[in-house]
Amino acid sequence: MNAQKILITGGTGFIGSHTVVSLMGQGYEPILLDNFCNSDRSVLRGIESITGRIPVLYEIDMQDKVALDAFFSEQPDICAVIHFAALKAVGESAQLPVAYYYNNLISLLHLLQCMEKHKVANLIFSSSATVYGTPDSLPLEEDHSAKAALSPYGNTKKISEDIIQDMAAVNQWLSAISLRYFNPIGAHESGEIGELPRGVPNNLMPFITQTATGIREELLVFGDDYDTPDGTAIRDYIHVVDLAEAHVKALERLLEKRQKSNYEIFNLGAGKGYSVLEVIQSFEKTSNLKLPYRIVERRPGDVPEMYASTQKANRELGWKTLRGLDEMTASAWNWEQRVRGINGRVS
Ligand code: NAD
Ligand code: UFG
Repeated sequence: MNAQKILITGGTGFIGSHTVVSLMGQGYEPILLDNFCNSDRSVLRGIESITGRIPVLYEIDMQDKVALDAFFSEQPDICAVIHFAALKAVGESAQLPVAYYYNNLISLLHLLQCMEKHKVANLIFSSSATVYGTPDSLPLEEDHSAKAALSPYGNTKKISEDIIQDMAAVNQWLSAISLRYFNPIGAHESGEIGELPRGVPNNLMPFITQTATGIREELLVFGDDYDTPDGTAIRDYIHVVDLAEAHVKALERLLEKRQKSNYEIFNLGAGKGYSVLEVIQSFEKTSNLKLPYRIVERRPGDVPEMYASTQKANRELGWKTLRGLDEMTASAWNWEQRVRGINGRVS
């Protein structure tokens, strides 16, 4: 039997590339699509080293509807789409709101139009815990109210979810799942693929690993006066390989028509919160290094504490996280050293 073809938009990105590896491991044939605005082709080498195969990759900007439509005509056997492609830097989105709304929303709208035209029924959408805004209660359950987010980026996720929900409401042929990621970190255990932020990282984990290599002088810890046990902010970090595996489970749910309604939402987190200092401690333990850091003011827009209820995903997707914080920090460090050619390894 021929492997089922799954379109992976943003397939050379951080989460997309790990999901491609998980899908190939389960016998699917991912077809990658990317415009390389935040990734590059070299990711294919990493995927090949892990899986022994190079997946098909199309260079297409999803803002180009003609090119996207031509892609679907050329690949008539696509049976599902996992839509990762988006711009994702929270701070940058406040500086470039139009670029963010345009790219993230137009890409989705073009995709939905093409799926309808080419009769592709199954969609998984990359959403974010940012849609919850400041939590009213913890752990965050999927029916917690979604609010206008604190950044244009976050708002694109909220609006995208609304678009998919509205479309699913009047189109029973569409089967869709939005996955709300909490804080994905870490890298494939092989060190062949991982996160490659451009410029100065905004996120904690790549900032830690780049500080450890000496590229950054010190880590700034944003605030130690939160109402949390050690005063630093708490997040729900999830290993990117656990996250990737959840996509395979969500895909199986769609393909086996096990949905309870044709649009569903699942949180993807570990269900446990760690403070910034706990992440630093884990990194120092697994890397055997001392990390230079300094406490500074809170970062505007940060919420004190966020972590997921994972019960719905555990129950309905038959999925749970298998990797703990130490595996996350160790794998992120393994990847960073490989990228930088540290310890005799060449990038
Ligand atoms: P990433 O930037 O590594 O991957 C996104 C990929 O999409 C990149 O390869 C980029 O080149 C591509 N892309 C962007 N716009 C495109 C377009 N118009 N046409 C074609 N390709 C395009 O990001 P990631 O961390 O892998 O995130 C994947 C998805 O998950 C995104 O939708 C992101 O918003 C969402 N998400 C990520 C996080 C996180 O912390 N990483 C958290 C919540 C949600
Ligand atoms: N932090 C620091 N110093 C840094 C970077 C981060 O102290 O240099 C702290 C932050 O203040 C926060 C924690 O580390 O308390 C995590 O920060 P990240 O920037 O890594 O992650 P966020 O929780 O702010 O945001 C992430 C994604 C968003 C997504 C959100 C959903 O970047 O895209 O999770 O919860 F929307």
